[in-house]
Amino acid sequence: MQEKINKLNSKIQEAELGGGLARIESQHKKGKLTARERIHFLLDENSFEEIGMLVTHRSTDFGMENEKYLGDGVVTGYGTINGRLTYVFSQDFTVFGGSLSETHAEKICKIMDMALKNGAPIIGLNDSGGARIQEGVVSLGGYADIFYRNVQASGVIPQLSAIMGPCAGGAVYSPAITDFILMVEKSSYMFVTGPNVVKTVTHEEVTSEELGGAQTHATKSGVTHFACANEIEAIQHLKSLLSYMPQNCEEQAPNLAYEISDESRPELDNILPENTTQPYDIREVIEHLIDKDSFLEVHQGYAENIVVGFARLAGRSLGIVANQPAYLAGVLDNHASVKAARFVRFCDAFNIPLLVLEDVPGFLPGTDQEWNGIISNGAKLLYAFSEATVPRITVITRKAYGGAYDVMNSKHIGADMNYAWPSAEIAVMGAKGAAEIIFKKEIKEAENPQEKWLEKEKLYSDIFANPYRAAERGFVDEVIRPAQTREKLIKAFKMLENKVVNSPRKKHGNIPL
Ligand code: COA
Repeated sequence: MQEKINKLNSKIQEAELGGGLARIESQHKKGKLTARERIHFLLDENSFEEIGMLVTHRSTDFGMENEKYLGDGVVTGYGTINGRLTYVFSQDFTVFGGSLSETHAEKICKIMDMALKNGAPIIGLNDSGGARIQEGVVSLGGYADIFYRNVQASGVIPQLSAIMGPCAGGAVYSPAITDFILMVEKSSYMFVTGPNVVKTVTHEEVTSEELGGAQTHATKSGVTHFACANEIEAIQHLKSLLSYMPQNCEEQAPNLAYEISDESRPELDNILPENTTQPYDIREVIEHLIDKDSFLEVHQGYAENIVVGFARLAGRSLGIVANQPAYLAGVLDNHASVKAARFVRFCDAFNIPLLVLEDVPGFLPGTDQEWNGIISNGAKLLYAFSEATVPRITVITRKAYGGAYDVMNSKHIGADMNYAWPSAEIAVMGAKGAAEIIFKKEIKEAENPQEKWLEKEKLYSDIFANPYRAAERGFVDEVIRPAQTREKLIKAFKMLENKVVNSPRKKHGNIPL
């Protein structure tokens, strides 16, 4: 028996070395961890159970039968993160550049199937040169098998992707379907076609980093939700993200213990600038409303006119969507609408209640916006809120103008509670513009048109630049002092804890894409 155990041990040792010491060293020289080191930092100590360690590829072309590595370039298995079951696959760049063979794909599919059956999140740590070139179409088939499973699992279990090296060509579409992408600065990139092809086709000269690095995708394309300074930071973010999520769509996110005390926040009474056209940072409002240091902002560098992220309120996980007056006056545009819509749909799929903070002057006008589809993109956000059945609360801090008022989780589209601060202005548009349109003739014919305009602006403002017309109609449930907001929210979300909505039976809706 001892001989047999020795044989097993030597196989385990061989598998643990992946592509060998020289390639591990080269990986370290690039400032990257190996596939196994990443798993070590991600999962609770000694919790990792590997599956498929001895799998090898089946390829025989180009002499491949003579070059086999145990595990075939991906480490797969399960373990725990903060005590909760999590499945993981981690591509090993030291074995054929982490490229995806038929068997490499089978290993990933196996744990995806397990994650789905057992209702636990799956994390992919991506570091791969793409399809295994020596295998041709079977490798492409392997990708499609993964994509298909990503779609089946979407909305059932959380799927997170960290990009820690190359991720190019077809490989990008698995992370793209998952719920959140994290990229590591300088050492990761994602693109459908690389700089060489780009140069041939469009004559553009661009580096990998410019084309598809972490900063590019965190600010320009919005493909990644997080750009992390290094791999350890990315791993911390993965753990933190999971802490706000349930294991699957049938469960609730874990609640942290919290004892209610004095929940008033007097500083909020003075947080808005006196002048209603002055910007302020909505993140400061968020910080006063939520549990201390609990905000995890998503998509921080993209479409900054809307802020989205996870937080805790009295220990309970919450998704926040907030207009950002400090950036483009918090206007809704194409990118902001899509960013928020996707976040709302994630929260709704995974039973995470939604808090909306509203200060929106409307949709951004212009040819750029119209030609790039603000109609369909704005509709995405409207659709996402309207179909969401999780507890939904809106707080109007200041402006709620025009169609954007409807879109930003208004009572009309199913919000459960709608609060307004006394500073709220709920109207079709700002008083200046409104007066110019409806009193156009009077202003034009006045002896002093400027004076008349100001007089009419004040008239419109007196009638509509407040929350009371909306409150009279019940469109606002309560006008509250800003200082009371946190305690009101805690009570209202508690009241909504057992909310049930029976939506009409359908195969699936047809969200405008
Ligand atoms: N299939 C098979 N082997 C691959 C591979 C792939 N797609 N991508 C990389 N490898 C192998 C390399 O042959 C090399 O093997 P070695 O260690 O035996 O020398 C090893 O992985 C590392 O690759 P290398 O090119 O030395 O690393 P790098 O960091 O300089 O470059 C890439 C990384 C990903 C940019 C480069 O390997 C590449 O362009 N790969 C091909 C990408 C591609 O076109 N994929 C198919 C389309 S999806």
